Amino acid sequence: MIELRRYWHPLATAVELARGKPLARTLLGVPLVLFRDASGEAAALQDRCPHRHAPLSCGRVRKGEVECPYHGWRFAADGHCTTVPGMELPVSNKPLVHAFACQIAHGLVWGCLEPDAATPPPVMPAVTDNVDYFFMTDTVNCTLQQAAENFLDGFHTHFVHAGWIRRDGQRQSVRASVHHLASGVEARYSDEGLQSGLISSLLEGDRQTSMGRFRLPGMAEIEYRGRRGLNLLISAWLTPESDQRLRIHARVATRCSILPGWLKQLFLRQLFGVILRQDKRILEQTSENIGRFQEVRLEASMLDSRLDLLAPSIRQLLAGEALTVEDGKAIECWL
Ligand code: FES
Ligand SMILES: [Fe+2]
Repeated sequence: MIELRRYWHPLATAVELARGKPLARTLLGVPLVLFRDASGEAAALQDRCPHRHAPLSCGRVRKGEVECPYHGWRFAADGHCTTVPGMELPVSNKPLVHAFACQIAHGLVWGCLEPDAATPPPVMPAVTDNVDYFFMTDTVNCTLQQAAENFLDGFHTHFVHAGWIRRDGQRQSVRASVHHLASGVEARYSDEGLQSGLISSLLEGDRQTSMGRFRLPGMAEIEYRGRRGLNLLISAWLTPESDQRLRIHARVATRCSILPGWLKQLFLRQLFGVILRQDKRILEQTSENIGRFQEVRLEASMLDSRLDLLAPSIRQLLAGEALTVEDGKAIECWL
């Protein structure tokens, strides 16, 4: 496995991290408290007061420091204790709470447990200019690999999202090719007409190509392009809270148009809310089912078909292995 602790992962949206209130998050099993320091920068500390181990995330933020809810000890962004109510502060040069690397980028608050010289910057969306966007967030009980595969797999949409994205009785012939990216992999679909489901009829006038891509450590992205450029870009960062639980931050972006962003958001939020719930349901049903068969190593015995275009590559990337799929390999299929 790649060392997920050495990568940046989104923990919250920048909007969620309000000035006066700490946020509880978990990254790879480590409980964190997030807050904004006096200058508005994001900070992440271990979510445990060293005095009696109360959760700092249940306290409040005062003058850019987090205050423990139990006896009011206060901690700065670097983990130093600045106040012990009722006594003069003993001089201590050492931080009393572990501070983690934290930054705000692309509208998200990111944390990294063990950054080093090889840690790449936070993974940004493919398109940032001339788009209206908003974030949708949720948690789901499954592995990073399961969620990434699901998000980028077109062949479940006829069943899990029947009528919303595609319909099984209305498949069309499509050409798909797989391409290597730096720390990622991408599938490109061409010759696909408008999809048979509701979302395409409402959102897409002129689809020409679509792409699904995965980038380490956990970003899955779907991009639809028409003659006039971008129609829709959904970038989903999958943050492992533990081996079996993810926090998802999905950025839904559309090309700026005469429709105001807030109006598009009102509509798209409802629509993609349905899709997200449908995916969450099948992912959790699948994880629970795997849990019923603990005597077999099911991850090692998954039966890939030719249509699982990206899944083997996602597994190899997460395992830190080289991609074995031929770069540019194409297949014809019915999608
Ligand atoms: S437990 Fe935090 S101040 Fe006592
Ligand atoms: Fe789906």
